[in-house]
Amino acid sequence: MRTVVVTGAASGMGAATRDRLESAGHRVVGVDLHDAEVRADLGSPEGRRAAVEEVAELCGGAIDGLVTLAGLPGLSTATGSAVVSVNYFGTVSLLEGLRPLLAGGNEPAAVAVSSNSATCQPGVPPEVVERCLAGDEAGARRAADRAGAVATYPATKLAIARWARRHAPAPEWAGAGIRLNVVAPGAVDTPLLQATRDDPVIGQYVDAFPIPLGRVGTAGELAAFVDFLLGPDARFFCGSVVFVDGGTDAALRADDFPVPM
Ligand code: NAI
Repeated sequence: MRTVVVTGAASGMGAATRDRLESAGHRVVGVDLHDAEVRADLGSPEGRRAAVEEVAELCGGAIDGLVTLAGLPGLSTATGSAVVSVNYFGTVSLLEGLRPLLAGGNEPAAVAVSSNSATCQPGVPPEVVERCLAGDEAGARRAADRAGAVATYPATKLAIARWARRHAPAPEWAGAGIRLNVVAPGAVDTPLLQATRDDPVIGQYVDAFPIPLGRVGTAGELAAFVDFLLGPDARFFCGSVVFVDGGTDAALRADDFPVPM
């Protein structure tokens, strides 16, 4: 039995990940605003600190897996600052804060959740990405409010992927035996996707993205891939960003990746 922390465990892909891991006999410690073992607001520094402390207490100082699925959609009615604080800083703080517990775990692995919007949505504001990666939450919040929540969303997801690529090979991650990888989902049928479809401004664009496989994904399909990345069959995966999106990223930018040095 492995102990896996799942943020955003109350809904969508987080709930599906919980179901899958628990069915296989693992222990899941959910972190969410509600319906979770650890109820915390990952949008605030205090909430993140409390979440890390509570997980450490519940898990006796060691965990085997971490999946960071908590996130807000980039709705036209939301503020950019809320999206940046939950999506980027709520993710990276938990990765950093729980890394010492992973170091004490058994074949530990972490999966950070990005989005194919990072590469497929036009107009990503570079300043939001840069301030996120600089760890400047106040500056990122200001830049995000200027950019708006719609443009901020893919910026947070790009920053998560870059943060993970920078850290995964480092001594404190790969060097400590902790595998860190990134999943970048495309459109997946969850309450978040529905909220985006219902948005009066951007709803019309959601289904305009091409999906070569001809349908959106299910939360269960994403949970299966997360489960694989956490497990022993993925023990040579490190620092990968994997698009699980029915072919959208490949359709829009076939030759942009991989690129030679
Ligand atoms: P969802 O809305 O079903 O679940 C997100 C969970 O995050 C909810 O349980 C919510 O309560 C929690 N959450 C939100 N704000 C929080 C906060 N301040 N503190 C703690 N928990 C908070 O969403 P879904 O679709 O399952 O998304 C999971 C992740 O996947 C998100 O990061 C999302 O950006 C990403 N994603 C989703 C896609 C989709 O089409 N559904 C596509 C690409 C990425």
